[in-house]
Parts: sequence; C-alpha cells; structure tokens
Amino acid sequence: MKKIAVYIHIPFCSSKCYYCDFVSFPNMDNRIDQYINYLIKEMDMYKDILEEYTIDTIFFGGGTPSYIDEKHIGRIFEYIYSNYNSSEINEITIEANPETVTYKKLKTYKDIGINRISIGLQSTKDTILKEIGRRHTFDDFLKAYETARKAGFENINVDLIFGLPNQTVKDCIHSLDTVVALGVEHISYYSLIIEEGTLMDKWYKEGKLKLPDEDSEREMYHRAIEFLEAKGYKHYEISNFAREGFECRHNLFYWKIKPYIGFGISSHSNIGNKRFWNYKNYNEYTSSLKNGHFPVEGKEYIDENMKMIEYMIMGLRLIDGVDKKEFKDIFKVDLDDRFGMVLEKYKKQGLLTEEDGNIRFSKKGLDLSNIVYVDLLPN
Ligand SMILES: C[S@@+](CC[C@H](N)C(=O)[O-])C[C@H]1O[C@@H](n2cnc3c(N)ncnc32)[C@H](O)[C@@H]1O
Ligand code: SF4
Repeated sequence: MKKIAVYIHIPFCSSKCYYCDFVSFPNMDNRIDQYINYLIKEMDMYKDILEEYTIDTIFFGGGTPSYIDEKHIGRIFEYIYSNYNSSEINEITIEANPETVTYKKLKTYKDIGINRISIGLQSTKDTILKEIGRRHTFDDFLKAYETARKAGFENINVDLIFGLPNQTVKDCIHSLDTVVALGVEHISYYSLIIEEGTLMDKWYKEGKLKLPDEDSEREMYHRAIEFLEAKGYKHYEISNFAREGFECRHNLFYWKIKPYIGFGISSHSNIGNKRFWNYKNYNEYTSSLKNGHFPVEGKEYIDENMKMIEYMIMGLRLIDGVDKKEFKDIFKVDLDDRFGMVLEKYKKQGLLTEEDGNIRFSKKGLDLSNIVYVDLLPN
C-alpha cells in the first residue's frame, strides 16, 4: 500500500511572536472545541481517499499544538486509529512551546503514540527572546526539555533562529552549544525571514530594527554548520541537522515530493498530480465544512514537466542533493537530458557539484540557491 504523511494544523497560540506569519490565533480559546470538531469532520471527508494509503508519519504543527488541552489531541488520535490505516506509522511529531508543557500533557502524548517532540526555543538569550515576543525564558525551555525526557521522549528537536535583531555570531554559537550539550537529537536552525504583515516587518520598514548585516548573517550560518558537524550532527537539509538516524521522516516526504495530506486551516496537500490548499481564514474554513464542502481554497494539477522541476527544487534543499539514478527511476528520463544545460552552467560557476551521480549545492551554492531555482523554473 502507498505511504502518506499527514499534517494537522492547530492554529492557537498564547500570543503572537513578532516575526511569525504562520496562521495562528492568540485569544481564540473559546473556538478550540469547535475547531477540533471541524477538523475531525474534515478528516472524515477524506476517509475514502485515505483508504488507498497507509500513514507513515503524522506532524502536529501550528500555531502551538501543545497550547490546547491534551484531550483534543487524544480525540484526533481516536479518530485516526479507528478510521485510517495506521498500523505502520513510523514517526509522530508534535510542536511544543516551552511555557505550555506539563508532565501530564507530555505523558499523555507519549501514551497516545507521539514519539517526537519539536520545541521552539529560538535563542538561549532571554533579552533576545523578549525582543522577538516569546512568552518563555531559557529556564522555561530547560524545564520543558527535562520534562520531555522524563516523560520518555527519545527524539527531540529544537528550533533556533539566526539573524535576529541584536544577535551576534557568538550568541548563535552559544545557543547551539547549549542545546548540543543537552544532547538533542535534531536541530532546525532557520535564517530569520521578515514576513510581510508581521510586527517585525513594520519595525523594519520604519528603520527601527537592528538586524545583523549580510556578512554576519552568513557567518552565523557557516559557523553553525562547522560547529554542528564537528559535534557529530549531519547537515542533511539547508536548515536541518540531525544525529545519525534522527532525520525528520515527515519533512522528507515534502522534500522528496512524496504524498502528503494536510488537515486544518491553511494546510497543504499533494496527492498524485494534484496540489491543493485550505482556507487561511477561520470563518471560510469552518463555514465551508459546515455546508458539507471541502475547505479547499485553491488547487492545481501538476504535469510531468512541473513535477520534475519541483523534484529538483525540493531535492536540492537536501545536502546529499538529487540522485540521477533515482530521478531516472521516477521519471523515466535522464536528468542530464532534461536539466543538463542549467546544471552545467552552475557547475561551471561553482554553485553546483556532481559526485557519484549526485547533483548538489556547493558551499557557495547554498548561499545563492535562489539563482539556481529561478533558472530551473519554466520561462
Ligand atoms: C510553526 S512555527 C512555530 C511552532 C511553535 N509554535 C513555536 O513557536 O515553537 C515553527 C518554527 O518556525 C520558525 N519560524 C517561524 N517564523 C519564522 C520566521 N519569520 N523566520 C524564520 N523562522 C521562523 C521558528 O523557529 C518556529 O519555531
Ligand atoms: S512562532 Fe509559534 S508561538 Fe509564536 S506566534 Fe508563531 S506559531 Fe505562535
């Protein structure tokens, strides 16, 4: 049976961080029950389609899934376990914010079958956490981390952001050093994006944000790679590092363009040659379901040519790059016949390299990846 990755969006948070544009609502606690009812209704509408698949991974993202009462997560699992093919699940992740976790909550997750937890720390420096609108301190993170270990979690990811206002290279290495010393299995290390419509975007446009210059930002990235590799973490995707065997299986479905389905507001799906995405607006999402319609805001059909392009763009995010043989097995076309000219151009410029039949970004290419992506797209 075909494997599928399931994403579930929980759009509630205790407050809005100044950089974040994920669909998440602070002060909407009175809608949580209603939302979970609609979420389960949506899952039920896809029951026939999912009969053809067996679930490989589940990812609860947000928003802050750990913000809501654990009974809601329990209800979602009751539905999944009794209605979907769930006997071969390999990985179930939940995103958690330090200030929201308790032993009881984490133990319930563990008992339900969740085996991976992703904690948002962003930085170990309290002054930075405050400046970016986080509700927790480093100490809160430490308590949450220890509680997760006590509850039995053996696969923990920590999210960090670099390029934050007033952050130095030393701050970044300190954050990394601290989480490495704790023994985390996986680190997501994201470059700050100033997203339109966020408070940070407003401050940036008003000239009120003191961001690191481009050279420091790149140094934060390159030094992190050196540091984490020396500590035994594999840099396996542009922003992700893992100890051997702890790569995020769920995200590999996205990067390898394997089937995935998203439930909940703003989630995306990829099934066969169809891509579709849900409403981002709460009322549109719920009223659509109330009227018995799929809450889908848009969809597109991907032809074989576009599939190959997507496969290249997502595949090059992986540090091992794209395997020519795998490409041929999937598309029955030689990678060089389809993309040879573009690949040669960037190999000559030193942005791409080829080794043992794998095309990947060079160190320089990782910094200039967008130039290559644009050239891979159709004119
Ligand atoms: C879905 S979000 C948040 C999950 C969880 N609520 C939390 O705050 O930890 C997942 C991660 O994306 C990263 N992120 C969010 N907005 C970002 C931005 N504008 N730039 C870079 N990273 C961002 C953060 O590291 C965050 O932990
Ligand atoms: S970063 Fe996390 S906690 Fe902060 S607003 Fe976004 S989803 Fe909510």
